Amino acid sequence: MRSLMVLLLLAGTAHADEPIDPDALQRFVHQDCGSCHGLTLKGGLGPDIRAETIEHYDADVLQTVILDGVPGTAMPPWRPLLSEAEAAWIADYLLKGDTE
Ligand code: HEC
Repeated sequence: MRSLMVLLLLAGTAHADEPIDPDALQRFVHQDCGSCHGLTLKGGLGPDIRAETIEHYDADVLQTVILDGVPGTAMPPWRPLLSEAEAAWIADYLLKGDTE
């Protein structure tokens, strides 16, 4: 029984530690998010999401917007495609402002 618990714990940790691929995520942001927010993220169908326009958001609020979308708008939930860690990475990436 005890060894089963250890295995379950290990499995849980491995999942939480899924590696982040910054290059792939960066491409994803410009291509997939960019299809609405513009390739340079300064707005299109969706609003401008460059650092200077979203700096009033905390990273964890942005992470939630990315994972769950904005209900009733064209902003879709990305939870099916992105892990929490990936969404957190994207939130940081947007806030850091080196997206151009
Ligand atoms: C199908 C179009 C579409 C795609 C694709 C899309 N968005 Fe959005 N997004 C929107 C729209 C529309 C809004 C505005 C929602 C509203 O009216 O509050 C929005 C809002 C946002 C906001 C909040 C902006 C603000 O000032 O309130 C953030 C942050 C955001 N999107 C990030 C992303 C990220 C990151 C991705 C890629 C993972 C993405 N979006 C992909 C359409 C899209």
